[in-house]
Amino acid sequence: CASGDCGACTVLVGHQDKQGLVYRVVNACICPLGSLQDCHLVTVEGLAATGEKNLTMHPVQTAMVECHGSQCGFCTPGFVMSLVGLQLEAGEQLAQADTDIRRAAVVEAISGNLCRCTGYRPIIAAGIVVFDKPAPANKFVAEWAPNAPLAGAGENVFPPVLLNRADSSYWQPHTEAQLQQLLREHPQARLVAGGTDLMLEVTQLYQPLAQLIDINRVASLTAIDIRGDEIILGAAVTYDAFEQALAHLAPEFAALLARLGSRQIRNRATFGGNICNASPIAHRRCAALFIGDGCGAGNNR
Ligand code: FES
Repeated sequence: CASGDCGACTVLVGHQDKQGLVYRVVNACICPLGSLQDCHLVTVEGLAATGEKNLTMHPVQTAMVECHGSQCGFCTPGFVMSLVGLQLEAGEQLAQADTDIRRAAVVEAISGNLCRCTGYRPIIAAGIVVFDKPAPANKFVAEWAPNAPLAGAGENVFPPVLLNRADSSYWQPHTEAQLQQLLREHPQARLVAGGTDLMLEVTQLYQPLAQLIDINRVASLTAIDIRGDEIILGAAVTYDAFEQALAHLAPEFAALLARLGSRQIRNRATFGGNICNASPIAHRRCAALFIGDGCGAGNNR
């Protein structure tokens, strides 16, 4: 769909955080390549294990076959990746869980994937049975280790540039000072965090975004600071990160956030982007969450 709606292009993006290597599903169609710097990208092609003579499918792929979870196959890679993402995230808990709990987790995990011909029942069945067997060793993690940062990507090197050509540039500052300098030097550059709205200018309007400054690596902009009854969010905090931070603090609100967009979108989309970009559809959702404006048409400010 080239707009982050159907989930057929779902991939896993692994990044190092305090807990180690964490994988999140994202829509590849609206994910700028530069944002994958120092990340591990896993596509559906990377799931099956290749032996000397044959290919061993990933258990999720096997379950999809055994439960008849695919017809035309257009959506299948995306569903498989979403279910593998769930297995990575909650495989151990779901192995111990009953069918109802598994079903709820599977339905949530595939909420950003559309199927036009199989129907969801066999796909959900595949998602449920996959937790009957132990999760496979995470072979793609063993095969990957982050490279040394590229020249220019470190905190002490400036400009933190990933791509700088006459026709397009992509900068990834690591500090507020670097970000401020880039903004002074390139006032015409667009800021990008999740890109879930901005990148549609490329995929739907065919407008090249010649100069992008990616704010995802500026630590202060991805911080969630909870002080007493105040919550201070960096502009690049994703909905997913906020949902997790609120899981114990305000579970009802965290549950409400889970209704916003799809898993793939919440893993990338940010509060700051939603407010600053003022997309009528996106902003209205955000405003409705915060001020209960009822999502009325035109209430996008
Ligand atoms: Fe045809 Fe899902 S199998 S769209």
